[in-house]
Amino acid sequence: MIITNSRAYTECFMQLANVLDLDENRPSYHSLRVAAIAYKMGELLNSKNLQEIFWSGLLHDIGAFGYNDFTVSTSESISVLEKDKIFNHTIKSAHIILKELPGEVGAVAEFVKYHHEKFDGTGFPEGLAGNDIPICSQIIKLADDLDTALRIIPEIPKKDIYEMFNNNINREYSAEMVSLLIETLEKDNFFSEIEMGAYVPIVVNDILNSLPCYNMFLGADLLEKITTVFADIIDAKHEATLGHSGRVAAYSQHIAEFLKLNPKDIIKVKLAGFMHDIGKAAVPRNILNKRDDLSPFELHVIKGHPVLTMDILKKMSVFNDIVEIAGYHHERLNGSGYPNALPAESIPFLARIVMVADVYDAMTSGRRYQKFVSREQALDYIIAQKNVLFDADAVGAMVEVASGELKKLSADNLAKRAGE
Ligand SMILES: [Fe+2]
Ligand SMILES: [Fe+2]
Ligand SMILES: [Fe+2]
Repeated sequence: MIITNSRAYTECFMQLANVLDLDENRPSYHSLRVAAIAYKMGELLNSKNLQEIFWSGLLHDIGAFGYNDFTVSTSESISVLEKDKIFNHTIKSAHIILKELPGEVGAVAEFVKYHHEKFDGTGFPEGLAGNDIPICSQIIKLADDLDTALRIIPEIPKKDIYEMFNNNINREYSAEMVSLLIETLEKDNFFSEIEMGAYVPIVVNDILNSLPCYNMFLGADLLEKITTVFADIIDAKHEATLGHSGRVAAYSQHIAEFLKLNPKDIIKVKLAGFMHDIGKAAVPRNILNKRDDLSPFELHVIKGHPVLTMDILKKMSVFNDIVEIAGYHHERLNGSGYPNALPAESIPFLARIVMVADVYDAMTSGRRYQKFVSREQALDYIIAQKNVLFDADAVGAMVEVASGELKKLSADNLAKRAGE
């Protein structure tokens, strides 16, 4: 069990928010800005839940990954189908927080669940009214709606935004909450600080330094759960390879176990497997899922993803020791890989494991920009590239792991046939 602190959690949640906000390569700063506005409102209210309010802001739309931006932030004039999705995202967000994130974050799940309730009881998911809606959820809603208003182009003047909130008193919001929002925005000219998207990370950084820091536990189990949330977000975006990150994690783990590596290294390669492609959050879906050949520019965009994976991992202290293990998965021993065309001696052994696991799964799971081949063909290729592109020990172990899988598959098939 590793003892760490609330700051380490905040770092992880900020990067989850970042990966969500990077959707379609447009840093919308949505989750970050909602967190910053909500935090400042909580501060003015002297709330004891400042940490939870900030986390709620970061995570409120986590259940909406894979949807387009529009469906997350608009609740009027949309199709029934999209309304269904919107209704579900609050419940899904709460579910992910409760199931996959540490127990200490439990309160956040409730705040997030009710962030689309309206003061007059016409919101969702439960139609709560008045102060039956937790105050923290009301705060998130106001911050959420303000962010939406700030992102409208052409820009809406401040006075019109205030008017919009005032006009919705007793419908969407309580009078107290609207004055809290306006007071927050007027204090120290916070409105002008927060209105420009590009300035949001700076505001958030200041908040980060003023948040309380206390000890919290973070074991391997929890770390793994957090990495699965990242992996789910990425895989949801990449329809052709649903489950890719999880399979790379599993293959990497099995290779490391076969090679009898120590338990810490086994965990490291597994976590790196889940996280290796998180940089793909910045690659637009139309490139990721493109059926035809990629243009040189599109290829360039795709090839940038390991750099972003490493940038994101570096921002979370609990993942600092897997940065290279995850980020070097497209490097090759003969220096022909990317992003840095590293020579063999610069590629750590654990990274070589994830490399082979990634190639094997990419070849056998039908990734569109590579040719789909049978498991046997994939193994033949990997074996042929032993000591050229791939590490000999990692290849040997991958062959064993994959052969075990093949044997299991044919045994399952036989059993299935016997049962028919
Ligand atoms: Fe939402
Ligand atoms: Fe939102
Ligand atoms: Fe990759």
